[in-house]
This record gives sequence, C-alpha cells and structure tokens, in this order.
Amino acid sequence: MASVEAFDAVDLIRTKRDGGELSGDAIAWLVDAYTRGYVADEQMSAMTMAIFLNGMSRAEIRDLTMAMIASGERMDFSGLGKPTTDKHSTGGVGDKITLPLMPLVATFGVAVPQLSGRGLGHTGGTLDKLESIPGWRATLSNEEMFAQLRDEGGVICAAGSGLAPADRKLYALRDITGTVEAIPLIASSIMSKKIAEGTGALVLDVKFGSGAFMRETERARELAQTMVELGADAGVATSALLTNMHVPLGRTIGNANEVRESVEVLAGGGPADVRELTVALATEMLALAGQDDVDVAAALDDGRAMDTWRRVIRAQGGDPDAPLPEAREQHVVTADRDGVLVEQQALPFGVAAWRLGAGRARKEDPVQHAAGIELHAKPGDAVRAGEPLFTLSADEPERFARALESVEGAWRIGDPGDPVDDGGPLVLERITA
Ligand code: URA
Repeated sequence: MASVEAFDAVDLIRTKRDGGELSGDAIAWLVDAYTRGYVADEQMSAMTMAIFLNGMSRAEIRDLTMAMIASGERMDFSGLGKPTTDKHSTGGVGDKITLPLMPLVATFGVAVPQLSGRGLGHTGGTLDKLESIPGWRATLSNEEMFAQLRDEGGVICAAGSGLAPADRKLYALRDITGTVEAIPLIASSIMSKKIAEGTGALVLDVKFGSGAFMRETERARELAQTMVELGADAGVATSALLTNMHVPLGRTIGNANEVRESVEVLAGGGPADVRELTVALATEMLALAGQDDVDVAAALDDGRAMDTWRRVIRAQGGDPDAPLPEAREQHVVTADRDGVLVEQQALPFGVAAWRLGAGRARKEDPVQHAAGIELHAKPGDAVRAGEPLFTLSADEPERFARALESVEGAWRIGDPGDPVDDGGPLVLERITA
C-alpha cells in the first residue's frame, strides 16, 4: 500500500505565496519529500520564489536549517577530547585566510575541522589553492579526518557528499531560478553544512563591499545576524565579523601565489591586511572555544603556526618544501604617472584572475594553479611612472587580453591627498546572537 504523505506541496506553496508561516512539521516534510523526489523541482522553484519574495520568520529559517541537516549525516567530534572551532567566509577576491588560520588556531590545542569547497566564478576555492602543493590530497575518509584532528589538530579537506544533501539539490535549483539571493535561503544553506560538520564553535567572516556576495553592508549585517542566531539555536557558539571586500585581500589572487602569500604570513610576514584578518578571526575562534587572552600574533612570529602548517600539509600527502608551480607567461602593467594608487576594485581583479585560468566556469573544469595576479601596489601606496602596478600570470598568453579588459577602469592613480577608495576599515564590526 502506498504511504500517505503528511502534506500537500501545493497547499504549502499557497501558504508561503500568501505571506503565511509554515509549521516545523510542514518544513521537515517539504525538505524530505523534495530530497526523495516526491516534491518536484517546479514545485520547489515556486516555493523558493515565494520565500525570496515574502521572507521567512526566525522559526521557519531554523526549521529549514534543521531539516536540511537531517537530510544527511551529522559528524561528531566529541570523542576528540578537545574543543573544535571552525570558520566560514562568504568569499571574496584574494581570500586565502583559511590557509594560515587553520594551523594558527590548531597551534593553541583547539581542533579545526575545516571542510572546504572548490571555487566557482570569480571567488577561489580553498581546495584549489591547496592542490597547488605537490602531493596534497583534498579527499579524506571520516576516519582519516578524525585521526588527523586528533594527531595534528587541524584538517582542511573536501566536504563529503553525505553532509546536508538537501542543500546541494536545493542550491542547484536556486542557481537556475534566480533565488540564490534570499537571506533565509543563504543562511540556512551555509549553516546546515556547518552545523552538520559537527564543530562546537563557528566564526563567520561575512564580507561586504563591491567584491562580496553581499555588496551592501546592511544586507551583509542581516545575513550575519541570521546565521549567528541559527548557530545559537543549534547549540553552536557562533559569532560573525563583518569584513571589507572592496579591494582584493592581500597582494595575490590565484592558487599557487595565494599559497605562497599564506606561507609568508605563517612566517611572520605577509601583507598587513591578510595578517590582520587572520589574527582577528583566530582570536575570535579561540575565544569561542574558551581561550581568551591568548597572544595569537606571537604564534605567527615565533614559528609555532608554521610548524603546525608543515605537519598538516605532510599529513595530507603534501610536500611543504616542494616548489610551487610557476606560470609560463607574464604580463606586467606599469604606472603611467607618479602619484598614489587611490582605487583597486576587487571584483574586476577577481574576474581577471578567473579569465587567466585561476578559476572555473563550470564545476567540472580544471583550474590552472600557476595562473593569477600579483598586486605590487595597494590603495594608498605611492607609485612612480614606469613602476609595475600588477603582474598577470598565465600558461597561455592569449588569456591576457580578456583579463586586461576586465581590469580596465578598475584602478586609478590620483594625487597625494586625494581620497583613497578602499571601503573603510578591514573589520567593521562583530556580531553575536
Ligand atoms: N554559499 C552557500 O553555501 N549557500 C548559499 O546559498 C550561498 C552561498
């Protein structure tokens, strides 16, 4: 005998279309019925559009998140015997912070299970960056992940397909129905994966500015607040930093060159903004895991974080001493006058790196690890006519023209004293539940 379904999808769509609120049972059924194929894509498209237009209450967003978690496995690191903490960034240009951050936090005895993804479009993926290290392996079994967390304190690896499978199906649908940008859907999508990953504490790096997924600060704040509340509702200690993505982070965009810059930060150097954000996020992650008042920066300066990095890279088959790939061709853009660099827009530089081969257009495409951009000057720096402003690197020189098209008008040299268009402070505010 066919089982009787508890709800009717059309009734639920009508409720949401007319501005009503869905019960927890209705949401749990909807997500489950969609995952098993009973609710059709066209019905779920109508539902996501109704949510996009009418929003969701806090209880609905929580129920949606919990239903997506329940669609798959939930990891459990309680047997590790140490606290766990993780970070999620909404993504940006030159955002390589996970690389120095994970070993830095792990140095303090707090385990970091950093399940990461690959890049799509102009924002790069952590796994793509790390795969430029010869031998490094992104895919680990749950047992390997647990053992590495126990022995080395940190892991960066591919999120398994068992975590929140409902989100994967729903995200693919949103992508082709113009419903990605709904805050309830973004927040539940991100948080279902992070909560299912089993971390005890979570810091969200929510970016605002022209190169961010959420360009307006107010929308970024709302997303951060929603996610922080979801974390609290699920018993995960969660906070968020609102951070600036108006200009590229650091001086490199790409894969191998971002690894190089991360290693500089781990050696106590590197660009000031990358170091500042790494220290701010590590301090926040450690505080949520119960370690207040630790001198995080000291572990970058005295080599402890670097030692952890070398161990975790080796544990995943990588050779931390192996030379990183170098691109076959370079194209240098120089300053046409003396002055001050007053503008360097993140998004066009991210798109240019992608066109050079650093990113992918479809998820099955390969990336070119050596392709990317090095920025020799950052907003506020004095520049002299003829000096290099940035260098494009690619394996195929025919890629330069399209990359140059992307950055045309995206940087500007002004006079000393002109306002610098850098989007303001790097860390704007901290958000808690
Ligand atoms: N990243 C996610 O994982 N989900 C979204 O909905 C948007 C960004």
